[in-house]
Amino acid sequence: MPRHPLYRLCRRLCTGLLVLPLLACAAEPATPLRAPEARPLVIGHRGASGYVPEHTLASYALAVLQGADYIEPDLVMTRDGQLIARHDNELGLTTDVAQHPEFAGRKRTQTVDGVAIEGWFSEDFTLAEIKRLRAIERIPQVRPGNARLDGAFPVPTLQEIIDLARSLELSQGRRIGLYLETKHPSHFQHLGLGLERPLVRTLQRNGYGGRQAPVYLQSFEVDNLKTLARLASFRLVQLYGDGQPYDQVLAGSGLTYAQMATPAGLAAVARYADAVGPDKRYVIPRDAAGDLGAPTRFVADAHRAGLRVHPYTFRAENAFLPARLRSSERPEERGDLGAELKAFLAAGVDGVFTDQPDLAVRLREGR
Ligand code: G3P
Ligand code: CA
Repeated sequence: MPRHPLYRLCRRLCTGLLVLPLLACAAEPATPLRAPEARPLVIGHRGASGYVPEHTLASYALAVLQGADYIEPDLVMTRDGQLIARHDNELGLTTDVAQHPEFAGRKRTQTVDGVAIEGWFSEDFTLAEIKRLRAIERIPQVRPGNARLDGAFPVPTLQEIIDLARSLELSQGRRIGLYLETKHPSHFQHLGLGLERPLVRTLQRNGYGGRQAPVYLQSFEVDNLKTLARLASFRLVQLYGDGQPYDQVLAGSGLTYAQMATPAGLAAVARYADAVGPDKRYVIPRDAAGDLGAPTRFVADAHRAGLRVHPYTFRAENAFLPARLRSSERPEERGDLGAELKAFLAAGVDGVFTDQPDLAVRLREGR
C-alpha cells in the first residue's frame, strides 16, 4: 500500500534520531546556545500537530524543522513513575489502546479533575506497556491527513523528547526550547505520582537549570506552579481556562481565572510566574457572529505586571477560525490563520501556541 509522504519522512527522521543522541553527547557546542528570545515566540503546540499526530517525536521534530522556537509536550505519569507525553491521562483518544485485547480489562470509569471519564488511564500502565501502544489522531474528521499516520509512532517519554531536542540543536545550530505542561497535577499528587519532582530531576539531570535555560513550565493549576518555584528556578507559566483552577476547587479558595485576569490578579500571578498562557478569548473575544471582537486590556495589564503573554491555540483549519476568516463551510479546509495571528500580534502578544508552526514562522519573517 502506498504510504503518505509524511509517513516516509517521519520514519526516516525517527530512524535517524536513534543515533542522534549519541552524536549529541559527542559534539556539545563549545559555547552554550541561549534560550530562544524571538518575538513573537513560536511554540509548536503538541509539536506540529496540524500535520502529524500530536505528542509524537515526529510531530516535535517537524515543528523544529519548521522553525518553532519551543516544542510543547504535555506530561502525564505512568504507574511506575515515568513522565510521558500525552494531553490527557486517558489514553483512548490518542492511542490505539482500544485495539489491544490484552488491555481490555484496564478500561474503567474514574473522576479526573471533577469529571467522570471512561477509558484507559496512564497511571494504570507501566512504561513498558505504554511502549506497546501507537499514537492515533485525536480529530480525524478535521485532520484526515494526520489520521493516515495512525499507528506509525510510539508514545515518547520526556527523556526521549529531550534527546530529540538536543540532537536537533546540532543540525539547526540553535537552542530548541522545551515548553512543558504538567497535566492533572492534583490528580497525580493524590495518587502519590506527583509530576513536579520527577520533572525537575529529569531536566537537571540533562543539564537544564536556571532562568537562562530554554525551558518554560506551565500549568492550569496554581499550587503546583508554586511548588515548582520552590524546587527550582525555571521560568513558569500560569495557564488560564474556564472557571477555577482545579487545585483551587479542591482547596475551596473560590479563586477563579477571571479574578486572576484582573490587574490585581495578574500582579499576584507575577509573584511566582514569568508568563501567562491565556485562552485566546482573554486577549480578543469573539462576538456573537463568531468574529474577532475588540481586544481587551489583558495584554496591557499583564505587561504592566511584568508578565509575558503567550495565548493558545492558533490553528489553520476552518473549524477553529473566526467566522470571517474561514475559507468555506468545510471544517477541515484551511482558512486565513495569518489574519488571525496578525490581529493578536497587533494586540501585543509575545508568543503564540500553534499547531502549524510553519505559518507563524513565515508571518514572523514577513513571508
Ligand atoms: O498549554 C497551552 C495549551 O496547550 C493549553 O491547552 O489543552 O492544548 O494543553 P491544551
Ligand atoms: Ca498544553
